[in-house]
Amino acid sequence: MVKIIPLALSKLIIPILLVILCIKYRDRFELFFYNFFKTDVRDSNLYSVEQLALNNGIDGNKIYLSILGFVFDVTSGTKHYGKGGPYHYFAGKDGSRAFVTGDFQDESSNKDHILDLTCNDLFTLLNWKDTLREKYNEVGKLVGRYYDMNGKETEYMKMFYERIEQCKVEKDLAKKEELKFPPCNIEWNADTGTRVWCTKTSGGVKRNWIGVPRLLYTPGEETPRCTCVNLENIDNSVTLFKEYDNCAVTSTSCFVKSK
Ligand code: HEM
Repeated sequence: MVKIIPLALSKLIIPILLVILCIKYRDRFELFFYNFFKTDVRDSNLYSVEQLALNNGIDGNKIYLSILGFVFDVTSGTKHYGKGGPYHYFAGKDGSRAFVTGDFQDESSNKDHILDLTCNDLFTLLNWKDTLREKYNEVGKLVGRYYDMNGKETEYMKMFYERIEQCKVEKDLAKKEELKFPPCNIEWNADTGTRVWCTKTSGGVKRNWIGVPRLLYTPGEETPRCTCVNLENIDNSVTLFKEYDNCAVTSTSCFVKSK
């Protein structure tokens, strides 16, 4: 009797351990089996890469495309995405990167990789997603870089949204900087050379002061740019300005001598 119990226990140890491991690493096991057997995803709103690829508009198939993992039925846009159409590249795949690079040859595994792109590119990409959403039906999500096989956002997608938030902050700062230091107007004439000047709307920035042209040196930027400086509210502590040669300190217009 004493020997029977440890024997029974020892036979149970491996199955118990397996059950514990399965529970603990459930997500990894699921992904492993999904990749191994390439089974169809369970949720009808989720598409595998293979399922999406079937909807490529060839042989009368529907046309689906994915951007940032959002899948749209773009069949009504066959003239764009159908076989022979200018944007057929996007049919049946997630080619998010090409929405900003325009590289319609990219069939690499990086064609949906976008985190290295600039803030402006990422905003463009989001605009594309919104434009497609307005025009076409969203039919689901693509399992891969942006959504996992449970339809949840992946770490990559979370990083993308974090980057977008960062970009918004950077954009706000740049806007504030531009309000403080608006660009000058610039014109060139063969006889008189380059003229820079300020108005209450120069640089497309409306304000209640005109300012005087100055060269603005910004850390990290190779060349200075012409900015209109409000002499009554000048902040020399953070920025480096230089007056234009042969131009009166208070003049709103200066001729720039070309070397
Ligand atoms: C990064 C480069 C580009 C990308 C990713 C791109 C992408 C697209 C996409 C996806 C559409 C279809 C939108 C829809 O479903 O309604 C479209 C339409 C269009 N694109 Fe582009 N495009 C690019 C560059 C250009 C350029 C350089 C031109 C002009 C020379 C152009 C002209 C057009 C026109 C005229 C349409 C509308 C056609 C119509 O409605 O009949 N695109 N573009």
